[in-house]
Amino acid sequence: MTIAIYPGSFDPVTKGHLDIIIRSSKIMDHLIVAVLENPRKVASYNIEKRVEMLKLVTEPYPNVEVDYYKGLLIDYAEQKKIDIIVKGLRAISDFEFEFQMALVNQKLNPAIETLFMMTNSKYSYLSSSIVKEIAALGGDISSLVPPEVHDIIIEIYK
Ligand code: PNS
Repeated sequence: MTIAIYPGSFDPVTKGHLDIIIRSSKIMDHLIVAVLENPRKVASYNIEKRVEMLKLVTEPYPNVEVDYYKGLLIDYAEQKKIDIIVKGLRAISDFEFEFQMALVNQKLNPAIETLFMMTNSKYSYLSSSIVKEIAALGGDISSLVPPEVHDIIIEIYK
């Protein structure tokens, strides 16, 4: 049984994240989508909201579980007996930092592999920051986020 984790800040979840969740859940026995703190970013939504949004969008996928963890990804992965870390890659600009994180995690626990999944080209331009910028300026984000979470996302800008 292969258990994978798709970690991220999901601040908020986008259609790009959901695409990676759906595609990776098809090739893993069990997928944990975990909200972790990114120390380089100040979050706009609290952890509870981010988890709530992820639970709403992953409800149709029975082998997907949503969780959160305040600490090191590799510590959580060890606790949950995770085999694989799934990361989405959108562009060359993502690569350098993702490569560094994968190597650090490999150093911390060489038994846990990082696998990169290429974005669907439809979403290669998409990021949580872009969604928030458009929403904050009153733009229409309905093509960028799953419909179940649209209203929760725009709530903070009302
Ligand atoms: O969606 P993001 O912001 O690109 O996700 C980054 C995240 C949360 C996966 C990363 O910051 C992370 O793993 N945070 C947990 C702390 C940790 O393990 N840091 C060491 C990784 S080198």
